[in-house]
Amino acid sequence: MIDQKIADSLKKRAKEGDTSVLRSAEWRSLTDAIKAFPPEQRSAYGKAVNDLRAELEELLSSVKDEAEQLPSLDITAPFDANTPADQRPRLLPSEQGSIHPLMGELQSILDIFYRMGFTAVESREIDDDWHMFSSLNFPEGHPARDDYDTFVTTQTDKNGQPLIAPAHTSTMQNRVLKAHKKKLEQGRPIAAVIPGRVFRNEDLDARHEHTFYQLEGVYVGEGVHAGHLIATLKTFLQEYYAKELEVKTQPFYFPFTEPSFEFAISCPFCDKKGCHICSRTGWIELLGCGLIHPNVLQAAGIDTNTYTGFAWGMGIERLTMMKYGIEDIRHFESAKLDFLRQFA
Ligand code: DAH
Repeated sequence: MIDQKIADSLKKRAKEGDTSVLRSAEWRSLTDAIKAFPPEQRSAYGKAVNDLRAELEELLSSVKDEAEQLPSLDITAPFDANTPADQRPRLLPSEQGSIHPLMGELQSILDIFYRMGFTAVESREIDDDWHMFSSLNFPEGHPARDDYDTFVTTQTDKNGQPLIAPAHTSTMQNRVLKAHKKKLEQGRPIAAVIPGRVFRNEDLDARHEHTFYQLEGVYVGEGVHAGHLIATLKTFLQEYYAKELEVKTQPFYFPFTEPSFEFAISCPFCDKKGCHICSRTGWIELLGCGLIHPNVLQAAGIDTNTYTGFAWGMGIERLTMMKYGIEDIRHFESAKLDFLRQFA
């Protein structure tokens, strides 16, 4: 009754694990054929088709079972999960692990900013040229772009520019300003900090790494001025270093702020007497900051007649090194247990 040739071919495919047999044209030709039978034969034909379906399903599921019997691979372990216990590489028990000093510091930095009313937004590790430069008032071909030389991917954005590993967390400013600008209309300020991993084409030494962490800050509201910037950073730094500090600013240049400053604190180790940490100057330059350039606010659709703001960017490693007197930035990524255990 059933076309035996078609039935055999379907069974062969099912045995080979072809899961499309019950959706195939051959299968449909068998089910459609029911219409061609006179009514008194239809139920017998229908039963034969159903039996064949059951057989095909059975064949398919037995093929699947075989696949499930293959040894499983534990992708979290650097060895086959079936390796006998005594032949596995020895792993450090997880209870002996500890939070990396940078992540611990980042947490305490964020806690201070939360108490000051800031919200945190995470940065990203791949970004585009527009967020890295144009949105931050670096015109195309501007020499200031050279200060932020970083790694690029072979993938490109919609303008054909390579995607990049961001050289600073300022890349996030435009997104954060746009996402939070509704607050301004409600009479509330934008107050956000943005931690993230950043990348630079650097010659490595005790103070420079190609991969490090930054914390960006942005604050926008009505009547915001440089006094607010200095007070905010001073309050944070005194809390972080748990001591009274003197602070000073020096003029600097960043395309995305006007005016721009380099922000220095009195050395927390010698209180300005001069020591090896501050190179006998009594001061430590810690971060870059300034009043957000109107072009940056406008790129996010913020009315610069009504609102002004400040921003800053600081290196988490540098803050941490200053807190604990760590002399070489390369310790952080060295995976040396002697170093890490001091912070456990
Ligand atoms: N993005 C700058 C850098 O990495 C640091 C910086 C300076 C960030 C001034 C800011 C700022 O937000 O206002 O060199």
